[in-house]
Amino acid sequence: MTTAALIVAAGRGQRAGGGVPKQWRPLAGRRVIDWTLQAFQDAADIGLIALVLSPDDDAARAEFAGRPGFVVATGGADRAGSVRNGLAALAGRGVTRVLIHDAARPCVRADTIAAVCAALNDHVAAAPGLAVTDALWTGAQDQVTGTRDRDGLYAAQTPQGFHYDAITAAHAAHPGGAADDVEVARAAGIGVAIVPGDPDNLKITRAPDFARAERILGAQMDIRLGNGYDVHRFGPGDHVVLCGVTVPHDRGLQGHSDADVGMHAITDALYGALAEGDIGRHFPPSDPQWKGAASEIFLRHAADLARSRGYTIGNIDCTLVCEYPKIGPHAEAMRDALAAIMDLPRDRISVKATTSERLGFTGRGEGIAALATAALVRA
Ligand code: CTP
Ligand code: MG
Repeated sequence: MTTAALIVAAGRGQRAGGGVPKQWRPLAGRRVIDWTLQAFQDAADIGLIALVLSPDDDAARAEFAGRPGFVVATGGADRAGSVRNGLAALAGRGVTRVLIHDAARPCVRADTIAAVCAALNDHVAAAPGLAVTDALWTGAQDQVTGTRDRDGLYAAQTPQGFHYDAITAAHAAHPGGAADDVEVARAAGIGVAIVPGDPDNLKITRAPDFARAERILGAQMDIRLGNGYDVHRFGPGDHVVLCGVTVPHDRGLQGHSDADVGMHAITDALYGALAEGDIGRHFPPSDPQWKGAASEIFLRHAADLARSRGYTIGNIDCTLVCEYPKIGPHAEAMRDALAAIMDLPRDRISVKATTSERLGFTGRGEGIAALATAALVRA
């Protein structure tokens, strides 16, 4: 039983203007589409994403084709056509439920996605609706011509969730012209439950909507911390590599890669902040291609992963624990090396050291331990 998200992103964004279709335009440091996709990638309930792209967006198709967890489909002449193509692309993949969402709604929150998913346990269809609170008028030529009772009226939002087979059949039977998938479902006789909508879950439609979406996302600051810890044992050798710097020593550090214990701790701190496991998950020690690998490959991967999720690295703090070699004379060079690898200003990187008063394995000079903390910020 898989719940898929079907993100329609094949429109041309005529009303928003700006030259480039709105889903590809920047918003609070990333593209609109990146925010939208991130919301569904972060959702525990969602196992697969079908992304519907215009046949004209070649670069986007190249970018997303083959991305793990993604299925790319081609857009149709109208939104409903795009949805149908997305549903078809999900066929045969064990999908039992699907949440259909506008790429142009990048501010969708986790609780809205979760509410739709939960409602599908009891209903064939469920969608977020916002009860209308403003008085309603009819008008013509800038004149109010009448009023309407707002009682029982809702503004429709997405994601709209359905049992997969039911919505696929409903779309196949629909003559076209529906405003959204709820209308398609209802035309097929499917009851649709309303879950609470979110006033911030706006659809970017016209140019001023970008500024509002930017304010909403900017207010959702996300701060994450991760810690990392690593140990490597001394063995024969004449130097150690610590935080990217070669330090002469009468012993070397043993390990699968270059045994840079400091850089490994920092890398694990970054993965930890992202809840992305540790180095071993991304670079399995069983894989011979990583034997003797420079640890900066791992660190760069973790830093790039953080940035691809929209985070900036706030700061890094690393403590090396050893009696020898003395770290102090090399600490500034280590900060510089780490700054270059992570593309960070050096004042955001701290490297310090302590002995353990000759106690324990570090005190006996059997190995070096390292601890690191990383802070990630997404504004
Ligand atoms: N959409 C789509 N395929 C279409 C038309 C629309 O996938 N043929 C998608 C849009 O990319 C958007 C969502 O449906 O994410 C909602 O549509 P809308 O807000 O109307 O977006 P556009 O059609 O791109 O904008 P406009 O109508 O202003 O041109
Ligand atoms: Mg449109």
